[in-house]
Amino acid sequence: MGKTYRIAVVAGDGTGPEVIREGIKVIDTLSRKSDFKIDWIYYNLGGEQYKKCQEILPDSVLAELRKVDAIYLGAIGHPDVKPGILEKGLLLRLRFELDQYINLRPVKLYPNVASPLKDKTPEQIDFVVVRENTEGMYCGAGGFLRKGTPQETAVQESINTRFGVERCIRYAFELTKKRNKQKKLTLCGKTNVLTYAFDLWERAFYHVAKEYPGVKPDYAHVDATCMWMVKNPEWFDVIVTDNLFGDIITDLGAMIQGGMGIAAGGNINPNGVSMFEPIGGSAPKYTNQNVINPLAAICAGGMMLETIGETAAGQKIEAAVIKCLSTGKIKSLAAGRMGLTTTEMGDFVATNL
Ligand code: IPM
Ligand code: MN
Repeated sequence: MGKTYRIAVVAGDGTGPEVIREGIKVIDTLSRKSDFKIDWIYYNLGGEQYKKCQEILPDSVLAELRKVDAIYLGAIGHPDVKPGILEKGLLLRLRFELDQYINLRPVKLYPNVASPLKDKTPEQIDFVVVRENTEGMYCGAGGFLRKGTPQETAVQESINTRFGVERCIRYAFELTKKRNKQKKLTLCGKTNVLTYAFDLWERAFYHVAKEYPGVKPDYAHVDATCMWMVKNPEWFDVIVTDNLFGDIITDLGAMIQGGMGIAAGGNINPNGVSMFEPIGGSAPKYTNQNVINPLAAICAGGMMLETIGETAAGQKIEAAVIKCLSTGKIKSLAAGRMGLTTTEMGDFVATNL
C-alpha cells in the first residue's frame, strides 16, 4: 500500500483558486493511477477572509499547518487590502514561521514556448535559482526616525547570519551535485558595494565549496547576473543568492522561460513543512473568467510531489506538461491567449499523464 499525504490547500486570492483547482485535478488523476493518496485540507485564508474577520493567519491555523505534509498555495494579494498586509501577514509569515529557508525557482524553457530571448533554445535556458528565504532585507529590521517631518529618516537593514547563509549555500551545493549538469554553482551578490553582507556570503560560499570538490564555484554580481541571464543564460546551472536579489532575478527568470504562466516555485524546509506556489500574483483582473494559465500551479504541484517523496509522480507531471506543450495546441502561455480555458488546460495535462 502506498502512502497517504495530508496537504493543506491555501488557494488564496484572485485567480489562486482557479489555478489550484487544476493542479489538484492533475494530482488526483495521477494519484488514481498510482500508489499514493492525497487528503486535501482546505483553508480559507487571504484578502476576502481578512476583510470579513480582520484575521490573516490565526495561531490555531498555523499550528495545524505545522503538522501537514506540504502546503499548496495559490496567490496572495487583494485589490482592497493595502499592499504589504497580506504579503507580510500570510505569505512571508508562513515562510518564516515554518522556516522554509530555501526558495527554489527553476528557470526552464520548455519546448514550443516563446521566450523573449529570440535565439535561445530549451537547452540554453535551464537553470535553478536557490533564493535564501528567511533573512536579508525581508526580516523587517529597521525603522523610522522623525517620521512625517521634513527631517524624517527611514532605515531598512539586511540581516545575514552565518548560520542562515551557510545552510542555504550548502543546500545549493547539494542540488548542483544532484542535478549533475554543468556542476557549476554561481553565487550572485554585490561584493563590490555590499561589503559586509556579501563578504559574509562570499566567505561562507568558498568555505562550503571545499566540501564539494566536484562542483565548480563561480561568482557574479547581481547586475551582471541580470545581463547574463539575458545574453548567456546557458552559462548558468544553479544560482544561489540572498532573499531580495533572488526575488528580483527570478522575475527576470520567469520572463525568459515564457512568463508567469509557467513559473513555479517551492518554499522549502528540508526538515519540515514546505509550500509550493505559482510565482505569479493573484491577477485580479482575470479572476473567475476561466482564462488564467494554470500550468505554473500544475508545475508547482509536480515540485511538491517530488519534495514529499513521490519523485516519479512529480516527474510525470512535468513530462505531461512538456507533452502538452509539444503538441503545439497551446497558442500562448499568457492569460486569455492560450487558445484553451483554464479548466481545459487542466484537463489537457490530466489526459496526457
Ligand atoms: C515572491 C513575491 C513575494 C516576495 C511578495 C508577494 C512578498 O514577490 O514570492 O517573489 O517578495 O517574496
Ligand atoms: Mn517576487
